Amino acid sequence: MALSQRISTLTGGGSDGWDLFLKARRMIADGVPVTELTIGEHDIRTAAPILQDMHRSAMGGHTGYAMVPGTDALRDIVAKRATERTGVPTSRDNVLITPGGQAALFAAHAAACDPGDVALFIDPYYATYPGTIRGVSAIPRSITTRAEDAFQPRAQDIEAGVAGARSLLINSPNNPTGTVYSRATLEGIADICQRHDLWLISDEVYDSQVWEGAHLSPRALPGMAERTLVVGSMSKSHAMTGSRCGWLIGPEHAIEGLINFSTHTTYGVPGYIQDASVFALSQGDEFEAEVGAPFKRRRAIAQRVLAAQNTVGLIPAQGAMYLMLDIRATGMSGDDFADALLEAEHIAVMPGESFGTAAAGHLRVAMTVDDDAFEAALTTLCRFAEARAA
Ligand SMILES: Cc1ncc(COP(=O)(O)O)c(C=O)c1O
Repeated sequence: MALSQRISTLTGGGSDGWDLFLKARRMIADGVPVTELTIGEHDIRTAAPILQDMHRSAMGGHTGYAMVPGTDALRDIVAKRATERTGVPTSRDNVLITPGGQAALFAAHAAACDPGDVALFIDPYYATYPGTIRGVSAIPRSITTRAEDAFQPRAQDIEAGVAGARSLLINSPNNPTGTVYSRATLEGIADICQRHDLWLISDEVYDSQVWEGAHLSPRALPGMAERTLVVGSMSKSHAMTGSRCGWLIGPEHAIEGLINFSTHTTYGVPGYIQDASVFALSQGDEFEAEVGAPFKRRRAIAQRVLAAQNTVGLIPAQGAMYLMLDIRATGMSGDDFADALLEAEHIAVMPGESFGTAAAGHLRVAMTVDDDAFEAALTTLCRFAEARAA
């Protein structure tokens, strides 16, 4: 029995770019001691008090169907966080609770695009973006950024690709590059969205992980609240990746339509997960800073290690839990370098090519092992690159 076109072509037919990751996992399963710097998973687990609150809620009976848009308490605290951080008045009617940021990305594209519409996204990109767009039967079109711009998109490049588009998906702080979009970049994007009547889908799941400068949500720019859908999540800010709790913030009429959509897709998020998320969010900004602190520390370690050599370049990373390294001086592709590094040194990093074409000749390093192991892995990586470049 044939599967639908939508499902059978979801990843565009080619490799999904995760070969290296799967190879590293197989080596680990075979007992090889691999330093794993591939995926965006913290090296800490969800904090015990959050789990205790989840347990308390479940034992208290919150195990039945929960309200589809999210509980009032969770929608309210997400709205309060958005108001405080962005200055844009936000109420529970602007908030839909979703099973993680990924479900919010899907819902946002379902709201913005009809089948056959073009949906823009920025290359390099988080691995699921094109498939999420195909999942709503829209057509993904990438806008390429450049290493020399630290992968900040140029307004003229977006403008050149805008014909026929209904939406633009951006992500700042960025996975995979660690770039935080500047005010000028975001103002350029806002201008294009308004002139071409685009929905802006702003993935801000790393909004609490900014190491330099400040996070600016484009929803706060003049005229943007009515056309911006903000994707948020407990995954990165609270080390709750497995709890599957996120949200979408947008205009009331969009959220109203998406509540109906959620009723027919996810049917909401478990009540005890939502209660634990309220508890976690009520710990405030300090808790989020604590969860992010190891990445800030490791970024400083990387800056020190990379400053001591000239072969591997560091793309200025202002946020998130990743670094993008430029290894073009070795003459190798990111794919070949990552594979050779894994084989020879048992260090697993993602080739830039896994995230589109713009980051070819680069590596994405997740800062997700303890400080000493991280420093040792980076030092070895640089030595390995130097030997290849010589
Ligand atoms: C940029 C970006 N957006 C969204 C997600 C999805 O996160 P979740 O569904 O766990 O909230 C991720 C996960 O790594 C991500 O890196």
